Amino acid sequence: MKIGIIGSGGREHAICISLKNSNKINKLFCFPGNAGTEEIAENINIDTNDFESIKNFIINNNIDLVVVGPEQPLVGGLVDYLEKFEIKVFGPNKNASQLEGSKIFTKKLCKKFHIPTANFGIFENKEEANEFLLSSNFPIVIKADNLAAGKGVYICNNETEGNIAIEEIFNGKFGDAKNLLIEEFLEGEEMSFFTIHDGKTFKYFETAQDHKRVLEGDKGKNTGGMGAYSPSRLINEELKNKIINKIIKPTLKGLDNIGTEYRGFLYTGLMIVNNEPYLIEYNVRMGDPECQTILPKLKTNLIDIILACCEKKLKDINIEWLDKKSLCVVLCSKGYPDDYKKNEEIPNLDNIKTSNNEYLYHAGTKKKNNKFYAVGGRVLNFVSISDDFSSAKEKIISKLEELNWSGGFYRKDIGYKVIK
Ligand code: AMP
Ligand code: GLY
Repeated sequence: MKIGIIGSGGREHAICISLKNSNKINKLFCFPGNAGTEEIAENINIDTNDFESIKNFIINNNIDLVVVGPEQPLVGGLVDYLEKFEIKVFGPNKNASQLEGSKIFTKKLCKKFHIPTANFGIFENKEEANEFLLSSNFPIVIKADNLAAGKGVYICNNETEGNIAIEEIFNGKFGDAKNLLIEEFLEGEEMSFFTIHDGKTFKYFETAQDHKRVLEGDKGKNTGGMGAYSPSRLINEELKNKIINKIIKPTLKGLDNIGTEYRGFLYTGLMIVNNEPYLIEYNVRMGDPECQTILPKLKTNLIDIILACCEKKLKDINIEWLDKKSLCVVLCSKGYPDDYKKNEEIPNLDNIKTSNNEYLYHAGTKKKNNKFYAVGGRVLNFVSISDDFSSAKEKIISKLEELNWSGGFYRKDIGYKVIK
């Protein structure tokens, strides 16, 4: 089989590596990929928003299946577009992708189907939103409605911070925002819960917890994710059943009511308050770096699972996992998530060898004349699986020290809640 993977992050490199483990696959293409995917796939330099060029390449090269990694092409309707040309695609359609593309769509669905989530209000202009703050308790959460790469969320401790958030969102900091959302601040511990869906049924795909803030101690600006660990320390059978019955099943019913089904990975972002789950957000894809953290534990062949989803036969597959702890630390360019230098060489990267239970996934990297360069904010993902989080982290830190890249930085405290 020939497979096309859309995306260029650590998530997509991890998906490529997991797919490569199957002898069913003889060629991988990555659109546009990175220096890591280039080692095992052919990188195709087509923009992920250029649907027509992607479609032409797929047809001309007889690609059998396309796996879409990131949210933008999903929310933009790449799946629907490719299916019009009878191309087999794994990922949710445009209608279902509103779960991530519009926070207000999801909040309305929560209300209609009694899904536990923070209380909220929707505001169409600055005046009404600012007036609402006058009678609010703080902290309060203010969110842009549209896709904002994890950055359109403000936790406001007082009215002034709230006024600034409202001003920035309506002034177009995250694109053309017609609405914003103000919601109650939930006090608890976060957990990300993953499922995989074939349109008819779905299966559990593990839990993880990422660290979104740039600085140690979960301080500083929000990023795409500085590291993650799996499983979450919060998960237990009772909680799992609550999440499935109170959140995921009613959501699928809501999609069914608007005439759509869900096929693909679903990332349910939760706040757990006294063993009760509250929905914070949906993402219509695997998380990055959660994907890099979870896939090394997967025992079943990923391609068999994805093909079963495309044939609506997921119920016939038993998804098996290694009973291990997994941890991922992301190495970033100095300056990220603000400005950082591009095209910095990573001189020692070729010398880093991973042994059993260690994984090195590329993100913002490029190879030129046999040298590696950093071209993005998040550059490399170091993952290790072990019987305990502590030894997984030790192995990762020693690899990062061995690489000793002067252009980068990383958080040394990933997983602090699960490591004494
Ligand atoms: P989101 O993009 O909706 O996941 O929000 C980004 C981050 O903001 C989440 O991972 C939480 O840490 C935090 N957050 C969002 N909504 C709430 C809420 N209602 N209460 C507390 N924290 C929240
Ligand atoms: N790590 C957060 C995300 O993928 O959205």
